[in-house]
Amino acid sequence: VDADGTRVFSLEAQGGTTEFEPGVASDTWGFNGSYLGPTLVADRGERVRVDVANSLDEPTTVHWHGMHLPAEMDGGPHQMVEPDATWSPTWDIDQQAATLWYHPHPHGETEEHVARGLAGMFLLHDPDERALGLPSDYGVDDVPVIVQDTGFSAEGRREPPVRGYAGGLGDELLVNGTRTPYLDATSELVRLRVLNASTARTYGFTWSDDRPIELIATDGGLLEASVSLDRIVLSPGERAEVLVRLTPGERVVLRSEMTAEAAGMVGPVAAMNGNTDAFDVLEVRAADELAAADPVPERLTTIEPYNEADVATTRTFRLDDSFEINGHAMDMARIDETVTVDTLERWIVTNDTEVPHSFHVHDVQFRIASIDGAAPPPELAGWKDTIHAEPQREYELLMRFEDYTDPDTPYMYHCHLLWHEDQGMMGQFAVV
Ligand code: C2O
Ligand code: CU
Ligand code: CU
Repeated sequence: VDADGTRVFSLEAQGGTTEFEPGVASDTWGFNGSYLGPTLVADRGERVRVDVANSLDEPTTVHWHGMHLPAEMDGGPHQMVEPDATWSPTWDIDQQAATLWYHPHPHGETEEHVARGLAGMFLLHDPDERALGLPSDYGVDDVPVIVQDTGFSAEGRREPPVRGYAGGLGDELLVNGTRTPYLDATSELVRLRVLNASTARTYGFTWSDDRPIELIATDGGLLEASVSLDRIVLSPGERAEVLVRLTPGERVVLRSEMTAEAAGMVGPVAAMNGNTDAFDVLEVRAADELAAADPVPERLTTIEPYNEADVATTRTFRLDDSFEINGHAMDMARIDETVTVDTLERWIVTNDTEVPHSFHVHDVQFRIASIDGAAPPPELAGWKDTIHAEPQREYELLMRFEDYTDPDTPYMYHCHLLWHEDQGMMGQFAVV
């Protein structure tokens, strides 16, 4: 924290090598190290600054996914950081506790920069969330789970995943950059902050013994109450906070068992896109003695509904087979939508294709008002910034862009399957 009370972080994008297999070096990129980046943590009400230095030999950017902030600080493709330059965005944290993340966003190169290893978590806390007594001892009972798929050679050298229609799909997983990961748990209640940081793959998380997934938070913060689910589906960019209750000495594996139905698909196209693959994600090994945990309050937060009568503007976004939105590919020089600050917006997102996409909006946390006209299930009723957009479905999103205006610097909306984004499945909006 500097003299004015600003919390200052430093990130340096750099190349290096990582031994995913002991003794076998793979070329990777990372922030402040050779793979992934440090977890940044801040509190609501704090002013933050991040000094982003680029030691790569090509330009990149760092985008704060899920963060409410001025467009010039957003780290999208208009805020390039040249080699040897440092960019220092600063903003006030003015949103509730949430599991956010950061990653590069250079237009046309995002998949490659993220796949090489540039990504990290950005966790926000707030006083109401702290008062709930949820597990919050970072790395002990509050644990980041950054899930990525990749390929490995027979010797254990990391190889770029093979590109299919969805983008690069790997046949092995890394959690926090670790191959065959496990977590030594020492507490009877553990909070897992699961981030799908894969470039293309969608997961359907389950527990190996079929215990329910206890979901407490989605992209933008806590749900009103925890929800018990057979499976939680996360497309690229989405997050979920999950609680797991452990008994001494037990072992349980977080798995991904995606199904065609969960992907909203039928027929061979589901397998073609990797949407039916299964993986062990993370083994949780409970110690023989576990620290006791506070009970979890039944009510976690209050989410005020938006009133549809207040909608000032309705916009439609059609995802199509040519990797376009509304018939346009991304153009850095074209602002597609101009939004009026502090008004309620309805965005109708339709996936007109036969395969799943994802849809992400910068600067805002939105609510899903309906899916194909029906109210969303409880796991999709909270704050979201990215949705798994199933084939042939229509999503009605309500959102309000607040505080910041800038007619010249746009924010982005795009498919978070990063190869699709790179192909132009992205558009720009300005808030005025
Ligand atoms: Cu996570 Cu525009 O990105
Ligand atoms: Cu984003
Ligand atoms: Cu897509």
